[in-house]
Amino acid sequence: MTEKIDVSLGTKTYPIYIGHNLLKDTDILCTYVLSKQVVIISDSTVADLYLAKLRSKLGGKESYEFVIPPGEESKNLAYFEQIISFMLEKKINRSATIIALGGGVVGDIAGFVAASYQRGIKYIQVPTTLLSQVDSSVGGKTAVNHSLGKNMIGAFYQPIAVIADTATLATLSERDFNAGVAEVIKYGLIKEYSFLKWINDNITSILSYDETSLNHIVKLSCQTKAKIVELDERENGIRAILNLGHTFGHAIETFVGYGNWLHGEAIAAGMVMAANMSLRLGYLDESELEIVVRLLQKCSLPTQPPQAMRPQDFLDLMSRDKKNHGNSIRLILLKNLGEAFITDEYPKEVLAATLKSYDNL
Ligand SMILES: NC(=O)c1ccc[n+]([C@@H]2O[C@H](COP(=O)([O-])OP(=O)(O)OC[C@H]3O[C@@H](n4cnc5c(N)ncnc54)[C@H](O)[C@@H]3O)[C@@H](O)[C@H]2O)c1
Repeated sequence: MTEKIDVSLGTKTYPIYIGHNLLKDTDILCTYVLSKQVVIISDSTVADLYLAKLRSKLGGKESYEFVIPPGEESKNLAYFEQIISFMLEKKINRSATIIALGGGVVGDIAGFVAASYQRGIKYIQVPTTLLSQVDSSVGGKTAVNHSLGKNMIGAFYQPIAVIADTATLATLSERDFNAGVAEVIKYGLIKEYSFLKWINDNITSILSYDETSLNHIVKLSCQTKAKIVELDERENGIRAILNLGHTFGHAIETFVGYGNWLHGEAIAAGMVMAANMSLRLGYLDESELEIVVRLLQKCSLPTQPPQAMRPQDFLDLMSRDKKNHGNSIRLILLKNLGEAFITDEYPKEVLAATLKSYDNL
């Protein structure tokens, strides 16, 4: 069964379709690809698996393809420029449609190309990782990395549709899949206790790629993200709760070097650290922290930062976070399981004690 969720943003409203084998469905794609020219952007791993299938659904369209190497290293200005040059050489016009076929890397760079090419053309997200289906394809954040920082060049630019085919998750590596589950757990933790409980009760079927469970977690995650994005499209306030675990997690990613820990893995450890600090502030109790730790462990996700990381490393890296205001480090913490809040007013010694509790020296 195909689910449809709208992200309601006035004239920029768009649907998210979720279902098994949606790539076989010509009707959905053709409803949104109204242009004669189509540019499919993908990475080589995903292209080998799914590009021919997608191309076969585009019938009489003039279709062009640009394939980048897989991985975070490709999300840069050099590939951005190569794609733009390719499109100019092929005389792609402003009414063309871009299709981003791949994970968050492809979605982010293709979205930024769409936002920039001749001041903006339409694009469709066809996410193929769990992380991109539940998170990066929804909400319109597009970007490439700069050598001085991740996602430092980008734009808010919404797609015209998201088509999440959960059958594509069958070919994803277990590690990438589990990293995506961390983001799913995040939605339960920030806003929906009942969803968190559902994930906890059904974790075995989720981890065995059960079709109904996958469709359910993608649907619930997208619904939660859509509601938050509708309230605060450009992250001036509440949207920041989506960053639970990210301030600690980004520090970990930077410390170990991008690619050594997957984003979802760093977020998993970061969410535990945020829950630990919430416990120290008297919001959570030990048993609630334990629920979070156990659930992440069942997904083979890390629940501690890297051993080599000292509290000062965290403080140095967290103080550079682009979400900070002034000198204080902005954090997303938990009032309860299922209720996150944003704060930069907390006793600094509680943050210090939290970091110290993970220090192995
Ligand atoms: N825009 C946003 O709001 C947002 C939110 C979260 C993360 N992100 C970004 O997303 C990126 C991470 O995304 P990701 O985890 O999807 O990584 P990714 O795009 O690098 O994909 C992970 C790996 O899986 C492979 N892959 C993708 N789909 C596959 C499939 N169906 N079968 C087999 N292999 C497949 C890819 O080739 C790649 O090697 C980061 O750059 C992060 O900054 C963006």
